[in-house]
Amino acid sequence: MPVPKAELHLHIEGTLEPELAFALAARNGVTLPYVDTAALREAYRFSDLQSFLDLYYGLMAVLRTAEDFTELADAYLERAAAQGVRHAEIFFDPQAHTARGVPIGTVIEGLGASLDRAEERYGISTRLILCFLRDESAESALATLEAAKPYLHRITGVGLDSAEVGHPPAKFREVYEEAARLGLRRVAHAGEEGPAAYVREALDVLGVERIDHGLRCMEDPSLVERLARERVPLTLCPLSNVRLRVIDTLADHPLRAMMTAGLMVTVNSDDPAYFGGYVGDNFDGVRDALGLEPEQLRELARNSFEASFLEDDEARRERYLAEVEAYEFGGA
Ligand code: HPA
Ligand code: ZN
Repeated sequence: MPVPKAELHLHIEGTLEPELAFALAARNGVTLPYVDTAALREAYRFSDLQSFLDLYYGLMAVLRTAEDFTELADAYLERAAAQGVRHAEIFFDPQAHTARGVPIGTVIEGLGASLDRAEERYGISTRLILCFLRDESAESALATLEAAKPYLHRITGVGLDSAEVGHPPAKFREVYEEAARLGLRRVAHAGEEGPAAYVREALDVLGVERIDHGLRCMEDPSLVERLARERVPLTLCPLSNVRLRVIDTLADHPLRAMMTAGLMVTVNSDDPAYFGGYVGDNFDGVRDALGLEPEQLRELARNSFEASFLEDDEARRERYLAEVEAYEFGGA
């Protein structure tokens, strides 16, 4: 059994495997521009974030009913459980669905039906994080938060994703202020393709508690020092970084240097159906490419629970942390 871990950076739409995409397309009468799953997988050759996003938003056309979202989440949870996930904080992109005429309630209730039985079926506790698309307007983000108000009992926090460069965090100051007033936790993607300055801005202007990706902080030593001092968690996604050409190979990943610099880093899968692996595969990848020792893997697993939004259930966090400490790494 893999080391117990929390997954904190996972886009549920990014768990749509080609087989499920074709099954949903057939069920919903949607025609995909690929002859079969092999042809679709062939198209997973990305040159940057935007080339991925174009394909990713296109494939979402198959997601139409609440049941589709329930099946999507069930499939993720089953795979995640097999890779040691005990707690998952799951991103979703309502605007990618409402823009296609799928109501936000369909998305949230569909996902919620899966998450309601995740613990019993898969042994995974869950939280939902609503993400705003940063290449859409600030007004659209505000309207999305407004539309989510009847479902806030299902939502733990807000995030910010999609095309980063040219869409700095400050564009979303107002909607993050409103999210804070509503008692929602705040995270944001920053420093994936965008500069270290966006990481600072997400902290200072949006008040985020975690940074998603954030690896370009390494270009700014004073920012690294601050992130380490304030113990701001960074949710890294190593396989994603290679597939989206943020780095050349896993061996080039700054994870080890980030740990040495005292940063609070976690390992996650981002969009596992597209990037060649789920969270356990990301752990195995960095272990092999960077030569991480068992105690470093344990630190990553411990960080994942410490960085998770379990303040409403500290007893659970303590149980998970005890599982991490008791875990015996094998010889592999
Ligand atoms: N970056 C930004 N937006 C995203 C990503 C990502 O890695 N995955 C899904 N939406
Ligand atoms: Zn992401």
